[in-house]
Amino acid sequence: MDKENYSAVSEFVFLGLSNSWDIQLFLFVFSSVFYLASMLGNSLIVLTVTSDPHLHSPMYFLLANLSFIDLGMSSVISPKMMSDLFRKHKVISFYGCITQMFFIHLIGGVEMLLLIAMAFDRYVAICKPLHYLIIMCPRMCILLLAAAWIIGFIHSVAQLAFVVHLPFCGPNELDSFYCDFPRFIKLACTDTYRLQFIVTANSGFMSLCVFFILISSYISILVTVQKHSSGGVSKALSTLSAHITVVVLFLGPLIFVYTRPHATSRLDNFLAVFDVVLTPSLNPIIYTLRNKEMKVAMRRVCSQFVSFRKISSGIW
Ligand SMILES: *[C@@H]1O[C@H](CO)[C@@H](O)[C@H](O)[C@H]1NC(C)=O
Repeated sequence: MDKENYSAVSEFVFLGLSNSWDIQLFLFVFSSVFYLASMLGNSLIVLTVTSDPHLHSPMYFLLANLSFIDLGMSSVISPKMMSDLFRKHKVISFYGCITQMFFIHLIGGVEMLLLIAMAFDRYVAICKPLHYLIIMCPRMCILLLAAAWIIGFIHSVAQLAFVVHLPFCGPNELDSFYCDFPRFIKLACTDTYRLQFIVTANSGFMSLCVFFILISSYISILVTVQKHSSGGVSKALSTLSAHITVVVLFLGPLIFVYTRPHATSRLDNFLAVFDVVLTPSLNPIIYTLRNKEMKVAMRRVCSQFVSFRKISSGIW
């Protein structure tokens, strides 16, 4: 491999979010709490949906898949970030960095498409209720899932293909707490002005499209509900406001970061904390705690778990 000849950088150094001890402590506590909440909440959803036959419907399958993806989303960046917080020298290997970028964009891409699939599911349920079972058949669910994974994979690999062969000859400091394309590309020792634009526009374009698709599907649902019943609007609005919250919290920071290809600021870093730490743990709360069926099923799973513990501790 002649890569070694000009690629002198074998690891990168994160500058982290802040040097202030107070802020670091705050970030550590904040991230730990949300990381744990995300792990517990999302595992509980996956467990509940897979174990409860009452919940074997497209909506819950998609929700469980979203939770599964959120488990991955939380784990790609948070643990490394938390263990790095109090370290002076925060390093990541070259391939560690590539791996992080691959998973961030794979998982982020799948998550976006799952949100669209969930909005589509609600659209069919509300606007075409008579055809719901025909349209959202098991084959359709598998198709939506496969499409989400394939598009997420292509989105991630297509960007990586542009950057893995870039030469790096130092400096190797990333003003961030995780690896992502904009800052990574800036460190390459060639002219990357256009490359930066292409790669950033890819993610920016994708987030913007997904945002508009989701918002217009919500609007068409509201319009349909309003036409058919006057009392239903406020109920639909309260359900949709939860979805809109997720969409704004998840896509807002992404749009802000990726639609300004040549600007990288400190603010980006703090916004990234939202996507990496906060949103994965908010999804279970927002999608689940407002849903009665789900709450009942979760309580059942929890009580089964507790009684199992009691029995097994009685034996021992
Ligand atoms: C994802 O959805 C598929 C098909 O709808 C379902 O069979 C599977 O159990 C779901 N995955 C999880 C982790 O719930």
